[in-house]
Amino acid sequence: MTARAGDLFRRAVGQLAAAGIDLRDAAQDVRHLLAECLEVSPSRIHGDAALALSPEREARFAAWLERRRAREPVQRILGNWEFWTLELDLNADTLVPRPDSETLVRAVLADCPDRARPLRLLDLGTGSGCLLLALLAELPEAKGLGIDKAPGAIAAARHNAQRLGMGNRAEFRTADWLEGIADRFDAIVSNPPYIPTAEIDDLAPEVSRFEPRLALDGGPDGLAPYRHLAPRIGDHLLPGGRVYFEVGQGQARPVADLLRDAFFVNIQTERDLGGIERLVRAEKD
Ligand SMILES: C[S@@+](CC[C@H](N)C(=O)[O-])C[C@H]1O[C@@H](n2cnc3c(N)ncnc32)[C@H](O)[C@@H]1O
Repeated sequence: MTARAGDLFRRAVGQLAAAGIDLRDAAQDVRHLLAECLEVSPSRIHGDAALALSPEREARFAAWLERRRAREPVQRILGNWEFWTLELDLNADTLVPRPDSETLVRAVLADCPDRARPLRLLDLGTGSGCLLLALLAELPEAKGLGIDKAPGAIAAARHNAQRLGMGNRAEFRTADWLEGIADRFDAIVSNPPYIPTAEIDDLAPEVSRFEPRLALDGGPDGLAPYRHLAPRIGDHLLPGGRVYFEVGQGQARPVADLLRDAFFVNIQTERDLGGIERLVRAEKD
């Protein structure tokens, strides 16, 4: 007997809610998983959906639902997720790109009214490559370098660049922050790990158990990467170049202070769509 998507949808949402997942998120997650199984748009999945699943597709959905019940994020189960206008493949070494990080992309683009400029961009802690690739997609003459300490992240970023047709403008290297980089750039962007070490285990299991530690752990107060980078990035910026740091809640002021101490000027912060100060932007004097 074939299963109906609407019946599976209703039952699965209840199961995820019972596993502690917020009801609205549960519905959204089941919609994405079922849509992928059926190869249809998520908008076609709802409690009355009459679409039929073959036994093979139903078994696949059941396996995915089990993983989600164990709190694995839906993005990791699917192995890809949308960021900006791009679909990015993910692996165990890449953070799932967050909509909050689009604040940084918007800020860089707002500073580049001439989209045809041949800018040189550096992305420190590139992960899936989401920030750099979103920027290159909007700045057709720009080129960029993405750095990450995790070789698996660099492999994913390189793969994403190739798949999205930007392999000729995006270079990726495994390195410890600025180690071995001699070049200078028009803009440096970074979303470094910024969770205080002791707080990681208290985060939602989707984050604490499934996101790579290297992508989360910002040291005792969450500011260690900014403290390392702020005094060093000026040497890698062209005259008039800018730095854009994504920050965690409550970190905008201390990060702005670190940049001021490193002689940056025009330091500004920007809020994300949730109203949290999410970005610190500064110019090389
Ligand atoms: C918060 S994640 C951001 C990933 C991606 N840019 C994004 O916005 O989704 C931080 C990234 O920094 C990388 N990272 C951590 N320590 C690093 C280091 N010392 N040098 C280079 N990259 C590092 C992690 O592997 C991770 O990919």
